[in-house]
Formats: sequence, C-alpha cells, structure tokens
Amino acid sequence: MKAVLCKAYGPPESLVLEDVPEPACGPGKVRIGVEAVGINFPDCLMIEGKYQFKPEFPFSPGGELSGTVLEIGDGVTGVKVGDRVSGGGGHGGMAEQIVLPAAGLRPIPDGMDMVTAAAWGTTYGTSYHALKQRAALQPGETLLVLGAGGGVGLAAVELGHAMGARVIAAASSKAKLDAAREAGADECIDYSDGELKDKVKALTDGNGADVIYDPVGGPLFDQCMRCINWKGRVLIVGFVGGDIPKVPTNLILLKGCQVVGVFYGSFTGREPEENARNWDELRDLFTAGKIKPKVSQVFPLSEYAAALRCLTERQAIGKVVVKVAEA
Ligand SMILES: NC(=O)c1ccc[n+]([C@@H]2O[C@H](COP(=O)([O-])OP(=O)(O)OC[C@H]3O[C@@H](n4cnc5c(N)ncnc54)[C@H](OP(=O)(O)O)[C@@H]3O)[C@@H](O)[C@H]2O)c1
Repeated sequence: MKAVLCKAYGPPESLVLEDVPEPACGPGKVRIGVEAVGINFPDCLMIEGKYQFKPEFPFSPGGELSGTVLEIGDGVTGVKVGDRVSGGGGHGGMAEQIVLPAAGLRPIPDGMDMVTAAAWGTTYGTSYHALKQRAALQPGETLLVLGAGGGVGLAAVELGHAMGARVIAAASSKAKLDAAREAGADECIDYSDGELKDKVKALTDGNGADVIYDPVGGPLFDQCMRCINWKGRVLIVGFVGGDIPKVPTNLILLKGCQVVGVFYGSFTGREPEENARNWDELRDLFTAGKIKPKVSQVFPLSEYAAALRCLTERQAIGKVVVKVAEA
C-alpha cells in the first residue's frame, strides 16, 4: 500500500510517498481503508519534531481520518466490516490503511460525506470541550475567538453561535473573517495591524469578552488579558503565533477572571464517557443543520506537501483535507 513517510524531521517537502506493507490487525483493533485525512496544525509540528509527542521513524503523519472498516480483531464489538468510521491515533493517517483501537472510533453520521468526516474530529471535539466543559459558556455571553478562520477557531465560532453566545471573530484577513461571518459570527475584528484590545472593548461597552478562545498566543495574548470581562474565562488552546506567553497574574486578580487550559487529547483519555456525550451532542447539532464543518481545500495524496503548507503558510480557511483513496 502507499503511505506518506517521515523518515527524518523536516519541512513538508522532506516527506516521501512510498510502498509499504499493509498493517496487521490485532485483538481489540480494527483495520481501516483510509478515505481521507484532515490536516491539523499538530501534523505540521510533528514532522518537524516540534510536537510534544514524537513517534519513532519512519512514521506517517495524519492525526485524524475517515474510512471503511476492512477487518476487525478478536474481541471487537460494536463495529463491523464495511462500517464508515472516523477517528485517529495521533499519526498514521496518510496511508492507504491504518490499524486503530476499536474503542476510539466514531460512527459517521448519515448525510456526512467522507471528506467532512475526516475533518471535524479534532476541531469540533476540541472547541466543544473548550466551550462546554472548560468555559461553561452561557447563552447571551460574549465569546471572542482568535484565529477565527482556522481549523479550531472556525469550529469555535460555529459552536459558540449554536450555544447562544454573541460571537466576535478575530482574524488576519477579510477572507477568514468572511468565513467566520458565514459560520455565525456577529462581529468581526481584523487584527492584522496588531490591534485587538481596543477593538474588543469598543464592541462590548468597554467591558471586554466573557470568554476568550485563544489558539494563537504570541503577542496577542497580553491584549486578551486586557479585554477579558469581570469573571471571564481565557481559554489557552495553542501557540501558533509565536512564543508561549507569560500570564500577568495581577490582571487575573483585578478582573476576577480565570485562565483555563484546554487539552482535548488528555480529555478523551481521562474522561471517555464525557467525551462520548459531547460527540452524541455534536452529531445531533450536525443532523439538525446547526453546524456545517467547512472544508476549503481537498488535495490528492500525492500533494501532501501542498496540503501541509496551507497551514504552515497561514492560508488555510476552515479545514484542509488530503483524499487518500482514489475516486
Ligand atoms: N489544546 C488542544 O487540545 C488543541 C487541539 C487541537 C489543536 N490545538 C492547537 O490549536 C492551534 C491551531 O490549530 P489548527 O489546526 O486550528 O491550525 P490552523 O487551521 O492553521 O489555524 C491556526 C490559525 O492561527 C492563526 N495564526 C497566527 N499566527 C500564525 C502562524 N504564525 N502560523 C500559522 N497560523 C497562525 C491563523 O489565523 P490568522 O491568520 O487569522 O491569525 C490560523 O488561521 C495549534 O496550536 C494546535 O496545536 C490545540
């Protein structure tokens, strides 16, 4: 079978597409024919050796995927050959087949195509966990989302809107803000000039946002701490924008606010039942037409480097997907 391989850390162009043996199934596991792979920023970090988890060489990138079950191992229940499933193992998705534990797989809702199914696991799983469990976002509260045109950001905009919040989307370009507006943002802020705090205050009668969703970090974080409302919650989601920021604890005191960490991967492992409930609700939101995950670009497997580059060059809007199976 064909697989994209990382044999040494480097940029997307250092990956290679090669023939490798098919993976063997085992007890509790499922062998899947991969249809599509959703690209996330951690994929870009992993191939450069900059992610917290470092698989052994050679490995295939691709943390989440959709596909069809080809074989089930001993002891597997609840999944059968031919089922359409999505899931992921952190890496290994950019290959024609993958073996994954059956326990972590999710059924694909009726009416969802395989490309979308590959693209919504990490982003909607992370953003729903962040807004629901970590921020306890309430209807009528104001939610500010940074990086609002990116993967997790656009999902946070759409979910915040579906949860009844007033959503302020913040991003670096008109195209990203247009996508956020389409996903339900009530207000849009272009921070490409480096200005965020005063624009948020102008839209909130000087109070600031009740919840801030920050996957960007870098220099914008300090401004977030200065435009969070009294008793607000600042969600720490990621650091694509540069250095890991320091938290000014005097502002936590003055605003009576909370700075809250979000680690979706740990949540799924430590609280699987709560995560399963989240996914029942996410499937209901999709079926009711309240969320429509946006995939802006689809690349064939041979163009894996271009797909990863969309994220490293800050071009992706919503999700970028690599189609592994030939049409
Ligand atoms: N905590 C968790 O559990 C969890 C789970 C999933 C992902 N994450 C993290 O969330 C972050 C976003 O992931 P994603 O997959 O949504 O990425 P993405 O689709 O590439 O979106 C990231 C957004 O960040 C902004 N950005 C600012 N500076 C950037 C830079 N130097 N390079 C690239 N983008 C930059 C971009 O928006 P503008 O151009 O509008 O600024 C971009 O749209 C990553 O740090 C990832 O590791 C965390």
